[in-house]
Amino acid sequence: MASLNLTQLRRHFGTVKAVDNIDLAVNDGQFVALLGPSGCGKTTTLRMIAGLELPDSGEIKIGEKPVTHLPPRDRNIAMVFQDYALYPHMTVAENVGYPLKVRNVQAVDIRARVNNVAEQLQINHLLERRPSQLSGGQQQRVALARAVIHKAQITLYDEPLSNLDSKLRLEARAFLKHLQREVGVTSVYVTHDQAEAMALADLIVVMNDGKIMQVGSPKDIYQTPANMFVAGFIGSPPMNLMACTVDAATRTLRFGDNLALQWQHDLPQGAHGQVTFGIRPEYVSIRPAGEPGTLDAKLYVMQMLGSESLIMLHVGNQLVSARLIADDLPELPERVGIALDQKRGFFYGTDGNRLI
Ligand SMILES: Nc1ncnc2c1ncn2[C@@H]1O[C@H](COP(=O)(O)OP(=O)(O)OP(=O)(O)O)[C@@H](O)[C@H]1O
Ligand SMILES: [Mg+2]
Repeated sequence: MASLNLTQLRRHFGTVKAVDNIDLAVNDGQFVALLGPSGCGKTTTLRMIAGLELPDSGEIKIGEKPVTHLPPRDRNIAMVFQDYALYPHMTVAENVGYPLKVRNVQAVDIRARVNNVAEQLQINHLLERRPSQLSGGQQQRVALARAVIHKAQITLYDEPLSNLDSKLRLEARAFLKHLQREVGVTSVYVTHDQAEAMALADLIVVMNDGKIMQVGSPKDIYQTPANMFVAGFIGSPPMNLMACTVDAATRTLRFGDNLALQWQHDLPQGAHGQVTFGIRPEYVSIRPAGEPGTLDAKLYVMQMLGSESLIMLHVGNQLVSARLIADDLPELPERVGIALDQKRGFFYGTDGNRLI
């Protein structure tokens, strides 16, 4: 195991800034998730760490050792690729045991460890097949088994569960979390599934357009998004981001004609004039129309999601979501008031960054 440090790492493809001068420090044993929309540079970052792609500039260190220009085989890294990359001429058992075989582990020990990890990932009935005889989700679990069977210094995962159905996905996620607690291999895990990133990672790195938007614990990222990109990306549905005009002298927030609220707390520095007000749907509550301290809202749609309901409303010309914990849809009139939990609200400036 080892720490991992990326310094000013850059890889452009022509005019595409796939990875644009990123800095990242991963501690020994930490599990880090790279999270971001398609094309934001996650795979390119991972390929540079693995040594499969050379950066234009910048440095990669594993432990104290610079590895930027070392070939992949000299980095002691295990990787699960987005496209599996199994050896087609080997059986599943041979594929999974391969990292041990090249390290001269005895055949009987290989067999035992292959059986153990295969059982955990529910592929033990497939061990004698070849990759071409497997479904996508089965191939994916074989690739995952091969990556975790030996304790590399660093394990890199590129969307390793993307082809599994939701039940298998949850089981494989629990297996990875358990493995991480037992073995604690330094890991970089690429996903665009935020629930997966939240569930697995010690640290989440949110990327967009080749840049890092925020690094923090799952709780930080969810509770205090540093900018509007992260606020609008994390959460399902994400944070409500409402155009708002602030009069700092009177602490009045205006969301449109006849849509004003009195702010009860200190306003952050710079919260004046045009800003964006952010609040998560769970902190928007529905009240009778006209109740003091509420904004007038018009019901748009209600969705029942199992243990909770999602209510979407128009406030002036802005759409706002409210999340209610309820096992049935509430009976609501068309016109209601909404109250915002002011302690849970954020202000974002015109540059998109959170005002503090
Ligand atoms: N070999 C290449 N040549 C040219 N452009 C590339 C190459 N590899 C990646 N890109 C571009 O670089 C950007 C980042 O790609 P990358 O594969 O890192 O994204 P990603 O975050 O992994 O996306 P996804 O979630 O879709 O897998 C994209 O715009 C992609 O089209
Ligand atoms: Mg990718």
